[in-house]
Order: sequence, then structure tokens, then C-alpha cells
Amino acid sequence: MAHILDGRALAERIREKIKTRVAALPSKPGLAVLLVGDDSASHLYVSLKRQACEESGIAFKLFLYTTTTSENELVEKIQDLNQRDDIHGILVQLPLPTQNADHVIAAIDPRKDVDGFHPENLKRLREGKPAIASAVALGVMKLLDEAKAHGNACIVSSSLFAAPLQILLKEQVIDSVVVQAESQELAQSVRAADILIVAEGIPGLITGPMVKPGATVIDVGTTRTDEGLRGDVDFESVEKIAGAITPVPGGVGPMTVAMLLVNILKAYSLLSPPLSSQPL
Ligand code: GUN
Repeated sequence: MAHILDGRALAERIREKIKTRVAALPSKPGLAVLLVGDDSASHLYVSLKRQACEESGIAFKLFLYTTTTSENELVEKIQDLNQRDDIHGILVQLPLPTQNADHVIAAIDPRKDVDGFHPENLKRLREGKPAIASAVALGVMKLLDEAKAHGNACIVSSSLFAAPLQILLKEQVIDSVVVQAESQELAQSVRAADILIVAEGIPGLITGPMVKPGATVIDVGTTRTDEGLRGDVDFESVEKIAGAITPVPGGVGPMTVAMLLVNILKAYSLLSPPLSSQPL
């Protein structure tokens, strides 16, 4: 049976460290979240982020918008938040109901893009420059580190999600291939992977016989079904084959929230002048 990678426990340890660091700062870091529409899952995720921030001593400001809010109104709000000294991180909860997420995210000052979704951050990451990396990808990397995973990786996802992850994997000398759920090569690529990362949002896409024995399996997919939250990996059959596996819930989800806090601290340090030049 596979070792279960407990994302909740790992996230808790990271959150404790963040709390200690925040307490030592000269001012309070602040996160602004834009939440558009009334999708209940998005509201739940945002409430988890609020709780994590408040427990860590990070100020949390929520801006709620109706489903039909114009892209312009969101962009204007972001431009205002970009200028505010008390806001170090800006996050637009996805998916947006009708607005173009790329346009809205592009308005965020890259130094405040704590999700790591701004194209400038991806570009800087690619060039090896200081950047805010995707919180989800950072969470996946921490879990792989915890699992002491090695070998070659297969990412089953859109190229958008895979891009930052591939760069972070490469930094750890892990080669990866990206494959989409509907690809002819899915079975072959999955079967060859020592490390399998799945983020398609298709419950039960990956089953036991598809997985290489002993592989480390990271399930990023989280879909609400009648039977509760389900991942992209069929846990029951895959845990019998894999060497290590993340549960859903309790795997990548809590790690994404913890790495969001890490990114807020990083943004704070990018934006704050060095202590020596601050007035006493
Ligand atoms: N919706 C699902 N996951 C995420 C995430 O990591 N960030 C944002 N902003 N929205 C999401």
C-alpha cells in the first residue's frame, strides 16, 4: 500500500513558521481577494484562505462582485490595490464566471501576484530571475520533497498549469512531459512516470492499472460530486500500486493555501524597503 502524503499536516507546519515570521515584521502584510459571482466552491476556498491569513496575522480584505461585473471594474479595482501600501498580495479567485481571467490577472502588479499566475512571473521564473512562482506548483514541489520523489515526471494537465511546474521540476533535475487527458499518449506517458501529477478536474481519470508500480502520485484535481470532493485519481485502486499518494481532500489543497501565505511574505519582502532605510 502507498504511503499517504499528508498535505494537511505539512501545511500546518509551514503555517506555524509563517505565523512566527509575520509576528516579527514591522508592519502587517495584507492580502486582497477579488471574488466574483456566487459559486459555492469558490466561496468555500476563499473562506479557507481568509482563515489561514487571519491565523497567521496577515490582514485579509475581501472584495465581492456580482456575476455580471464588467472586466473594467475589476481592472480598476486592481489598479487601485496595486497602489496601496497596506496590500502586498492580490488574488482573483478563479474561475471567473464570464470575465476574461487573463485580462484581469494581467492588471495585477507582478510583485503582488501571490498566485503566481501573471505572465511576467512565469517569464522571470523561466529566465531564472527572482519571481513569485505559482502557489499550486510550489505546493506540489513541497509534497514531492516530502516524498523524496525522484525519477521522471508526467504532468496530466493543461500547459498553463504545467508551465511553472515544469520549470520548478527542472530546477530539481527532474525531467517532465506534459500530456492532456484526451491525448492518445495518455496511457503510455502515465505508465512510464516515476512521478505522476494530475490536474484535469476529471474525477477518477487515473486508475490503478495505469500507474507505474511504486510511483509518487500527486492529485491536484478537486471536483465536487454527489459523493463529496473527488480527485482526478481513483484513490482506492491507485493506492495499491503507487509508492506514495496524496489524498483528496487533505493533499494538494491545504498545501496551496500554505504556499499562498509563503508568497504573501515573499511579496511583502519584495515591496518593503530594507529595514535599515525605514524610519524609526
Ligand atoms: N481556483 C482554484 N484554485 C485556485 C488557485 O490556486 N488560485 C485562484 N486564484 N483560484 C483558484
